[in-house]
This record gives sequence, structure tokens and C-alpha cells, in this order.
Amino acid sequence: MVLYICRWILVSLVVASQSSVTPAVASQGATFTVENKCQYTVWPGISGNGISTTGFELQKGESRTITAPPSWSGQLWGRTRCAVNSSTGNFNCVTGDCGSGMVSCFGFKPAPPTTFLELRLEESNENGALDYFYVNVADGYNLPLLVVPQGDTGANCSMAGCVMDLNGFCPTELRLSDGRGEVVACKGPCLTLQQEKYCCTERSTCRPTLYSRVFKDACPHAHIYPYDHASVIIPRQTSQLLGQVMKESLASKMAHY
Ligand SMILES: *[C@@H]1O[C@H](CO)[C@@H](O)[C@H](O)[C@H]1NC(C)=O
Ligand SMILES: *[C@@H]1O[C@H](CO)[C@@H](O)[C@H](O)[C@H]1NC(C)=O
Repeated sequence: MVLYICRWILVSLVVASQSSVTPAVASQGATFTVENKCQYTVWPGISGNGISTTGFELQKGESRTITAPPSWSGQLWGRTRCAVNSSTGNFNCVTGDCGSGMVSCFGFKPAPPTTFLELRLEESNENGALDYFYVNVADGYNLPLLVVPQGDTGANCSMAGCVMDLNGFCPTELRLSDGRGEVVACKGPCLTLQQEKYCCTERSTCRPTLYSRVFKDACPHAHIYPYDHASVIIPRQTSQLLGQVMKESLASKMAHY
């Protein structure tokens, strides 16, 4: 997992090969751009209040800029294989579905297994402004997702995410397949197997597992399991999720991407 601190961010929603989200920043708030670098259509979903959109379609190569309030937190993810069900009229997706029945997700979060970006934007104060983000695959993976900070990012702000096709590495028992046998997502071991060693409710006994190593190999810069961290930055307003996150410098490791 990765926790980055930065002010100017570009989020790249990487699907298949790559897609991206680009933030620029305005005094009224933050803007970021989501770009679909997959070879197919993806429907980004966003949870959280006060943002300019909570769901939309992005065809291959398309991008869209999103505006968030100066102080904002939420999740962003990609949905795949979406369609309107002709009998119910609801918009549904095979992965990343938020259950709203529409393209917009409003306050709804994605159903696992879904790769998602956790983002928290903070308003400037006497310490400056710190934004926190990381990419989470602890509850499963559906698409590559890459966040690329832009602008005056400071020393500890670097790219985060998972750019590998984890579906291709997914252990058999964790695979989510479509009707034709194609693996469309890789389920999280805790949710799927319901065992303490994967769920890590006890911090003192939490250790990497075979599964977490598979995920870590594919996604070295994403949050894989509950106590997946070497060092922790406790944000000023600690959320349970963010408090478990580690920070690391990615610049050199990401160079080969
Ligand atoms: C459409 O919705 C119905 C009722 O929920 C469901 O049984 C059916 O499988 C859905 N069709 C598709 C193509 O998902
Ligand atoms: C960057 O991280 C290092 C190590 O955690 C820390 O000592 C330093 O204060 C951080 N710098 C900024 C600008 O946050």
C-alpha cells in the first residue's frame, strides 16, 4: 500500500494498459483528470459528496476532468462490462458495480472485488495543504489503476497504484469469471476465504500470506492487506483505512513503468 502526501495530483486510472485521471488545482478546490488507457470502455465511479460527477462513461482513450471541493474525501474506481438491463432498466456492471442502478454512483461504493483509489484532499492551513491517496486492492482487484501526481508535489509525493494485470496472475480460487470463462476480477482472500490469516483483525499476528505475495508481486505499490505497511503516516484526521496505510518512496521503483 502506499500513502502519498501531495498537493497537485494527477490520477491515472489504468485499465488494461493504462488510463489516467489528471488533477490540476484551483483555489476553489481541486480538479483531477481521469483518463481511460484501456483498450475498451470503462465507467469510472466516484463516491463522496460535493464532487462534480459521481459516475460517467469513458471510451478508450477518452479523459474527463473532475472538480472536487477544497476539502474532500472519497473513492474512485473503474467499472467494466456495464450495460442497461433490458428487463429492469437498471444500469449494471460486472465489476465495480456501485448498486445505484444508474451511471452515477451518488454516495454508493463499489462492490468488491474492485481496485479503488482512496483520496483525501485537505484545505490549506498553517502547515500548508496535504492530500493523501493510495490505491487499495485489499478487497480485490478488477483493473489497473495508477495515480500520477502533478505539479509541486513535494518530496514524498509520487506515483501510486497497480499497473499489472492481476487478473492474469489470480489464483484459481480467487478468480471471478464471466459467463465465458474469462477472468474479469481477482477476489480478495479475506472476503472470499474468511480466515483470520487473510483478514488480519489482530495486528500482532498479521503476516504476509501466499495470496498477499501474489498481489504484492503484481501490485508492489498498492495497499494489499490490512497491516500492509513498513511505516505509517498518521494523517491529521485519521480514518481507519488511512491509519493502516504506509508511506514509501516510489520514484525509483516506478521508473520501469
Ligand atoms: C436483468 O435483470 C434480471 C432481474 O434482476 C436478471 O434476472 C437478469 O439476469 C438480468 N440480465 C442481465 C443480462 O444481466
Ligand atoms: C518525507 O518523508 C520523510 C520520511 O518519512 C519525512 O522525514 C519528511 O518529513 C517527509 N517530507 C515531507 C515534505 O513531508
